[in-house]
Amino acid sequence: MPTARSATVQPPPAPSSIITGEGSLTDIVIAAMAGTADRRTREVAEAFVRHMHAFAREVRLTEAEFEYGIDFLNRIGQATHDLHNEAILFSDVIGFSTLVCLLNNGNAGATETASALLGPFWRMNSPRVANGGSLIRSPTPGPALFADCRVTDPKGLPLAGVEVDVWQASPVGLYENQDPGQCDMNLRGKFTTDADGRFSFRSVKPAGYPVPTDGPSGDLLRAQGRHPFRPAHLHFLGFKEGYKTLVTQVFVDDDERLESDVVFGVTAHLVGNYRPGKGTPPAPDVTGPWYRLDYQFVMEPGVAKLPRPPIK
Ligand code: BEZ
Ligand code: FE
Repeated sequence: MPTARSATVQPPPAPSSIITGEGSLTDIVIAAMAGTADRRTREVAEAFVRHMHAFAREVRLTEAEFEYGIDFLNRIGQATHDLHNEAILFSDVIGFSTLVCLLNNGNAGATETASALLGPFWRMNSPRVANGGSLIRSPTPGPALFADCRVTDPKGLPLAGVEVDVWQASPVGLYENQDPGQCDMNLRGKFTTDADGRFSFRSVKPAGYPVPTDGPSGDLLRAQGRHPFRPAHLHFLGFKEGYKTLVTQVFVDDDERLESDVVFGVTAHLVGNYRPGKGTPPAPDVTGPWYRLDYQFVMEPGVAKLPRPPIK
């Protein structure tokens, strides 16, 4: 026979979301996000919260450090404008951009990749250049460079009709958008591969350069005692429907900073063979030292998708 006591038993109270201490907080926050309709959004946001909370616990983050971190984030936003993307730069100097690149290319990180980070200087709509044409649009002193490139599929078959953007810093280490001495779109061009997958161009040998250090990413590098330089390189972006968009860089092999790239972009595969030119230069106006680069790019079948341009 039920007792008076058992007749009044209530269902157990719902778990309380009142915060009882540091140890219960993370689960309560994650429970609050459980209604996220999109599964991937929920997965990413939950992991982000778990890792951020674990980070604060691991370093026992102080209130002053928390304030500094919030100010640092705000300064990343404030330093970003049409011609500069500090958020990408920050991601680059902590190796995060390269990590995402390696996770998403080369069989999801299993094999060496032909890709490299985009960096903050790619511009959409660079001018078309005929095969064999020049990237030089305003006087740009420096050793001439003649590049012969080919794009194939993974079996080595030529890929025709690939649109290839090329962009680079000048021999003094500045992109045109950083340098009032260069005209708009200097050292940028868009090529289309021919029936044999080839494209070629004339330019100048790029120089290594420091990444911008006047924002919070520069403060971080200084605090860490790191130099801000990238080894010299050319950037390439290959686009063709049916193939995964190839974003990559080809590094100059005689650069002394190949092993200390501030943004961790150098893989062995991406070091090019920039050969000093011998004999008669390919163009009559070349009077000083000149270089040749031959390079083969491989594009994998996949989805063609242009990145969002970091700058305008
Ligand atoms: C670049 O190669 O253009 C670059 C990449 C990361 C940070 C700054 C510049
Ligand atoms: Fe660059």
